[in-house]
Amino acid sequence: MSRIAIEGGVPLNGTVRLSGSKNGSLPLLAASLLVDGEVVLHNIPHIRDIRTMIQMLRALGARAEFRDDAGLVIDSSSVNSVRAPYDLVRRMRGSFYVAGPLLARFGEAHVPLPGGCVIGSRPVDFHIKGFKALGAEVEEKHGAMHARAERLRGTRIYMDPRLRSVGATVNLMLTATMAEGTTVVENASREPEVVCCQQLLAACGADIQGIGTTTLTITGVERLHGVEWTAISDRMEAGTFLIAGALTRGEVTVEPVDAEHMAMVLDVLDQAGCDIRLGENAVTLRMDDRPNAVDVMTAPFPGYPTDLQPNTGVLMSIARGTSVIEETIFDARFNYVDELIRMGADVRVMDGAAIFKGVPQLSGAPVVATDIRAGAALILAGLVADGVTEISGGTLVDRGYEDITGKLSALGARIETAPEADLETSNGECLA
Ligand code: EPU
Repeated sequence: MSRIAIEGGVPLNGTVRLSGSKNGSLPLLAASLLVDGEVVLHNIPHIRDIRTMIQMLRALGARAEFRDDAGLVIDSSSVNSVRAPYDLVRRMRGSFYVAGPLLARFGEAHVPLPGGCVIGSRPVDFHIKGFKALGAEVEEKHGAMHARAERLRGTRIYMDPRLRSVGATVNLMLTATMAEGTTVVENASREPEVVCCQQLLAACGADIQGIGTTTLTITGVERLHGVEWTAISDRMEAGTFLIAGALTRGEVTVEPVDAEHMAMVLDVLDQAGCDIRLGENAVTLRMDDRPNAVDVMTAPFPGYPTDLQPNTGVLMSIARGTSVIEETIFDARFNYVDELIRMGADVRVMDGAAIFKGVPQLSGAPVVATDIRAGAALILAGLVADGVTEISGGTLVDRGYEDITGKLSALGARIETAPEADLETSNGECLA
């Protein structure tokens, strides 16, 4: 593990070149298991979750490697196992995405159940219900799901509209692309990350109607062919750097970005008083003052993304006035709040909502990151806090952000990474 140390109080200025989307890339890697031929993926971020997924593909027998300029090249013709190793599934829930493709292409998938997670309860019951509806026999035993089907048959899958699931939408559409006949998925997620995967599948020869909508009509095909594809930019990374600019009263441009992927986030930042300018494939944010308090409720796309809720909480912690942030997706996603309180924030969490009474200034402190997004939020808090903030568990952030410390340094932040062991001897002085 490593820690991240930050000396706050520097306005951030400059342009950030965004990486490819973590949650947009993981489904593309899983989809490559369905393909007969080489899949060449560009703009795949060099982050830990992607390395885990590459290890997973290799564990199943696929060839997967980054080739300098050519991108990530995956060839699944050598897959010789339908058993996903527990060690990889427990590291990252996204690895459950291999279940659908294995079942669809090889008629069998043995995948450990991912279990709980620090951001809340995250069952996979919707995925399993969908596999059964498509005709698979599914057994859950000894902590694993074992699904088998001689032949998958198209069907109507009605997903719970109150809990629209990104993961189940991806897994079931991957499965349905090679089922016999037509599958209709109702109440599908339409996050840009899901849509990117739908477009890749269509480019490989899948028959998918309703791309980008909540009703997908998928008619199975016998074979998907190789393709070259580019992952979308990471809208969570974009939001993180824009909020960093807002917090530190700087001017930050993020590119390349599709502003439509960020409409709700940009609306909240606008209400908070930020000056936002849209360019071609770029968004620039400038902020000169403390933010206004804005109420926010997380929701599936096009609603406010839960993955940016912790960052938004940090912004509201220094706002003028009181705001309420409601978290409707994951029940433990306020786990950064106690650390933020240690930095001087005035926040009370109750019944899935947090009430932020804005304070004029946060103060640096040693804090602990519990997940990727909590870690990013604590980095942002450190950037605006008075003095030094040391974040233990910094490597969690590396799971989802490519070189976040390097990119922040380039904007002027005083930030560095050091081995966790340094904490023993650290005298709390900074650094950069
Ligand atoms: N749910 C169920 N049963 C299921 C599946 C989901 O009850 O079978 C519930 C979940 O517990 C949750 C809601 O449905 O309350 C939505 O969960 P969803 O399935 O959409 O989440 P996910 O697919 O597990 C992805 C992202 C998350 C992101 C969420 C919501 C990936 C690899 N992960 O998770 O990203 O927060 O969608 O947008 O794409 C992150 O990047 O830090 C992260 C956690």
